[in-house]
Amino acid sequence: MIDLRSDTVTVPTKEMRQAIANAVVGDDVFGDDPSVNELQEFTASLLGKEEALFVPSGTMSNQIAIAVQTKRADEVILDADSHIFYYEAAAPAVISGVQLRPIKTEKGIMDINEIKNSIRVLDDHFPHSALICIENTHNRHGGTIIPLDYIRKVKEIVIQNKMSFHCDGARLWNACAATGISPKEYAEPFDTVSVCLSKGLGAPVGSLLVSSRELINEGRRKRKLMGGGMRQAGIIAAAGLFALKNNLPLINYDHQKAKELAVLLSESEFIKLDKNKVETNMLYFDIDKKISGDEFEQECRNKGLLLLHLGNNSVRVVFHFQVEKNMISDASNIIKDVLNNLEKK
Ligand SMILES: Cc1ncc(COP(=O)(O)O)c(C=O)c1O
Repeated sequence: MIDLRSDTVTVPTKEMRQAIANAVVGDDVFGDDPSVNELQEFTASLLGKEEALFVPSGTMSNQIAIAVQTKRADEVILDADSHIFYYEAAAPAVISGVQLRPIKTEKGIMDINEIKNSIRVLDDHFPHSALICIENTHNRHGGTIIPLDYIRKVKEIVIQNKMSFHCDGARLWNACAATGISPKEYAEPFDTVSVCLSKGLGAPVGSLLVSSRELINEGRRKRKLMGGGMRQAGIIAAAGLFALKNNLPLINYDHQKAKELAVLLSESEFIKLDKNKVETNMLYFDIDKKISGDEFEQECRNKGLLLLHLGNNSVRVVFHFQVEKNMISDASNIIKDVLNNLEKK
């Protein structure tokens, strides 16, 4: 099977499993796990923040960031296709009691004037605008990169309005690899940044929230509240450390693979795709409207290719380091074959 559904589908390599086996562990709820502590220190330093908190998932990391930077009935401004708005089961409403103010965008880049216009004036009728979130790279917009100069402009608005600023950087590593901008520079404008180990980096579990000591202390309490306090978590932290130390340089290859497939697929008359829009490891394309997306997905699966049909004839493929180079032409051939057959039906 060629699995292009997500970069979350990787399995630990032999070397990573060795690092897991060798991990020195302790009870992390007591702060006693040396591997977790090392991972947290390493990540905080990589992103230039005071401290980091190891959590089970990117969703929990985002939710802790919201919980420590808002009060009930506050409002959070974010992109309408962001993971926080789209895929986190309304957790901000449930956990933090906040209202989300989504802004529709082309590529995950909210219009500066629209952000300004979305900030509430002081009035008893209105919620308090507390937090702005940015997702980098942007998942539902096809792995697009959010430029640093844009982020700095949003930061000015954040400062002027005494708000807080969060980055969902589940794939910040991809933005860094593609632009050459360091994780530290990308993280600098934000109060909190969430990064994931279990996407392009290939660790089995885990994300980190990085921020000031004060917010991370508060975040640790929220992690407990959410049931995310883990005991001998060094077992998985060791995999995360291994991933950060060894797999970061591999990320750019995933971008090359996505671009290569885009070129091959753009030859098909049944596919709508702008190959110049592929910025990182994701590729979204539309198949001919006459073809059922579900049937397309199933037929690809029958031929050994896993991908995701997202509705409206939109299809997503995502590259990771366990996709071998020779699989790209295989994937392209399967997709074209299936489309040709379904078109004739
Ligand atoms: C941009 C983004 N943020 C957050 C998450 C959540 O990560 P997790 O699945 O670890 O909760 C994802 C998951 O794919 C994501 O794509």
